[in-house]
Amino acid sequence: MATKSSLLCLLAFSGNVLCDTHYLFSGFFSGDNIVALEFDDTASTLSVINNITTDASEGSKWIALDGSNENLYVATTGYIQSYSITSDLDLQYQSNISLSSNCTNANFIVASTAEPFTVFGAPYSTGCSSLAISVDSGVLDTSFASLEYDSTAGVHGLALSPASDFVYSADDMGNAVWVHSYDNSSGAVEEVQRLSAPTGANPRHLAVHPNGLFVFVVYEELSEIAVYSRDIASGELISTNTTYSLIPPTFTNTSSYWADEVLLSVPNTNGNAKSPKYLICGTRSHETSAPGYVAVFSLDSVTGNIVDQLFILPTTSSGGSANAVSPSKFSEDYFAITDSASNFVEVWKIETGAANSTASTVAHLDLDTGPANVVWLN
Ligand SMILES: *[C@@H]1O[C@H](CO)[C@@H](O)[C@H](O)[C@H]1NC(C)=O
Ligand SMILES: *[C@@H]1O[C@H](CO)[C@@H](O)[C@H](O)[C@H]1NC(C)=O
Ligand SMILES: *[C@@H]1O[C@H](CO)[C@@H](O)[C@H](O)[C@H]1NC(C)=O
Ligand SMILES: *[C@@H]1O[C@H](CO)[C@@H](O)[C@H](O)[C@H]1NC(C)=O
Ligand SMILES: *[C@@H]1O[C@H](CO)[C@@H](O)[C@H](O)[C@H]1NC(C)=O
Ligand SMILES: *[C@@H]1O[C@H](CO)[C@@H](O)[C@H](O)[C@H]1NC(C)=O
Ligand SMILES: *[C@@H]1O[C@H](CO)[C@@H](O)[C@H](O)[C@H]1NC(C)=O
Repeated sequence: MATKSSLLCLLAFSGNVLCDTHYLFSGFFSGDNIVALEFDDTASTLSVINNITTDASEGSKWIALDGSNENLYVATTGYIQSYSITSDLDLQYQSNISLSSNCTNANFIVASTAEPFTVFGAPYSTGCSSLAISVDSGVLDTSFASLEYDSTAGVHGLALSPASDFVYSADDMGNAVWVHSYDNSSGAVEEVQRLSAPTGANPRHLAVHPNGLFVFVVYEELSEIAVYSRDIASGELISTNTTYSLIPPTFTNTSSYWADEVLLSVPNTNGNAKSPKYLICGTRSHETSAPGYVAVFSLDSVTGNIVDQLFILPTTSSGGSANAVSPSKFSEDYFAITDSASNFVEVWKIETGAANSTASTVAHLDLDTGPANVVWLN
């Protein structure tokens, strides 16, 4: 168990950097356990502090925190569940939203950080809609609206605009990106736009820059990151037709890789919450004998556009179905990564030098089953 002082560190947390200890939850592709982890950035250690048996009997394929860090939302087959987080980092089951019988593959969750803290969930199967879910004091209440797509769509990832007034959907099966508006007073959700992606791209996940001007889309099949510019008022996107490879430029075996995740570093320590330093992407290898890759980009501090690809580095293993990167909340230089082929979670640190930048593993924790994604509490 965590020590009393380290948990006090968590309770006192409000974006400070005074604590050496940081807490994460990790979900798993199968089984009913979710683990609470402790990362000590001085000792560079990562350890399990709580192994929690949940009500998610068919895995926790995706987990997401609410904005207050008091609730954890869990995607498990057939349901999106809500748990409250106790002061000793246990999870108490609260409620679930049950999915329709054809759309049970609960796969992604994003929680709005603005009133009324609406949660959006995506089941990943052809023709399924995503759900808009109301919350009551952080607990999932009812699914009050659907984000409709078309019969070819299969949405794998969602992201919200900074004001939570638009929802972006990465349509992996229908090879498109969708834009829906969300009106937080009427609860209305409406389609704004469907943009076809280039042939064979297959958008998987996406991230909206906090200044609202760019959306970065992972093309899973091409193992690329694509840059879309965004109109803040209409929510609409325009492809800039600019992409960056997420595997080494000399590789011609694109079909041996499947890009996974894109997220922005969390800019609470650089004095400008609208200006993250990095865009961080994880890519998996289809062969467990070959590593996946992590690619990090620097961003313009004013426009938010990509300035430079800082590096592409091999990950410790293939990533399995994961290689999901998760930027830390305490420093933009740290991110976690999950691997479901060799079953581990790692914490990496980015080092930026005058001439070049790199990153390396600072802590490694072996697990006995495959972790899906992790979320940082502090
Ligand atoms: C958590 O507990 C389960 C049994 O409930 C066990 O199979 C698993 O290995 C444990 N995981 C960790 C990381 O300790
Ligand atoms: C979902 O909620 C229903 C109604 O409360 C409950 O009967 C069921 O056990 C829950 N199932 C899961 C998997 O959360
Ligand atoms: C489920 O899918 C089948 C086959 O497409 C369809 O016939 C059926 O109406 C669907 N059921 C529901 C509940 O949507
Ligand atoms: C809608 O969002 C605005 C801006 O965040 C907020 O001031 C307002 O209270 C929200 N409305 C509702 C009904 O929650
Ligand atoms: C991107 O390419 C498409 C197709 O060639 C073209 O119609 C569009 O104008 C281009 N967009 C930009 C921003 O150049
Ligand atoms: C892809 O090709 C590169 C260069 O030949 C090779 O090093 C790598 O192992 C290949 N990857 C896979 C997954 O086969
Ligand atoms: C990057 O910078 C470090 C330290 O300045 C240096 O040791 C290393 O050789 C450089 N690497 C490359 C690829 O230029």
